[in-house]
Amino acid sequence: MLIVKLLEIDNGFSTLIYEKSGGKEYIYLAFYDDKELEDLTSRHIFFSSKDKIPIENIQDSITRDSGVNLLIKREDLLHPFVSGNKFRKLKYNLVEAKRQNASRLITFGGAYSNHILAVAAAGYENNFQTTGIIRGEETQPLNPTLAKAQNSFGMKLYYANRSSYRTKSKEDLLDMLGINCRHTYIIPEGGTNTLAVKGCAEIVEDLQIDPDFICCSCGTGGTLAGIICAVSAKTKVTGFSALKGDFLKDDIEKLVNACNNNTYINWEVNNDFHFGGYAKFNDRLIEFINHFRTSHGIPLDPIYTGKMMYGIYALMKSGYFKKGNTVLAIHTGGLQGIEGFNQRFGKLIRN
Ligand SMILES: Cc1ncc(COP(=O)(O)O)c(C=O)c1O
Repeated sequence: MLIVKLLEIDNGFSTLIYEKSGGKEYIYLAFYDDKELEDLTSRHIFFSSKDKIPIENIQDSITRDSGVNLLIKREDLLHPFVSGNKFRKLKYNLVEAKRQNASRLITFGGAYSNHILAVAAAGYENNFQTTGIIRGEETQPLNPTLAKAQNSFGMKLYYANRSSYRTKSKEDLLDMLGINCRHTYIIPEGGTNTLAVKGCAEIVEDLQIDPDFICCSCGTGGTLAGIICAVSAKTKVTGFSALKGDFLKDDIEKLVNACNNNTYINWEVNNDFHFGGYAKFNDRLIEFINHFRTSHGIPLDPIYTGKMMYGIYALMKSGYFKKGNTVLAIHTGGLQGIEGFNQRFGKLIRN
């Protein structure tokens, strides 16, 4: 890898142009400081959060019949393992961890968690040791997510049984597992905190278009909260909950309020497309994801983005969006989970 030109160093981040073997120029964003720039050539660095994320236009009989201009922002292309909203959520958290001189990142999550793998990869690329506290018992061989986190990125894995994980505070869990927390930076499960919301606002800050709707999948609601804080009042922000239950609206309100004092009314959470709850699915969802991939060449995951896009198509068919509306879907990544999903349930998702 040959660095062609250093563009800027800002707040511990470095935006670089360098040349790949194919001769193309790319802008990358890395969490390196001045000293570390020297040996950048031997490392992977992050894709830029600006300029290079394609927005694709989706056209088929349903977009034509409904008259909707459907676009998708391919945040999944940011990075193979720190993809989509994970990149956005970790960005300012890693800056803060560096500012605090932390040497280790600790976080929490399920055995197939996109967030666990993202923290492992981001930590590896930015010189942090990483520890993952996994919900549930250890199973061997490790599933593809945990195998990559541990074997490719050196994450140290601990397991907490489900009842301790659910009932104990995170501090008590770390205590129970005998984990030393000196020089560590703790990132919550799912990666959502105020710094994550600030990072997620950047998903829409550089948009060159002014859509009528922005749609995004929701787990904790942190990603949606960032988008809500950053879009103009003309745009309606619609979150598609991947979980069963009606609690997200309050959580999102709190996250938005923690970021600024504005009141936003141009958003909603749609609870109709969770398919029975977190990680639940049925044949219709799988068929939709496979069909979408074949028709448009865009992979979707069955936990988050597949459910969001299914919901968008259902709303297009029902006439919820008006003729001429521009609807921008955010592809928040999660594609790493497909391998583990296919391993568990039979090769349902085609690639
Ligand atoms: C791929 C993907 N999309 C969407 C979400 C939902 O994000 P949030 O928890 O910020 O609502 C997640 C979970 O973090 C995710 O992994």
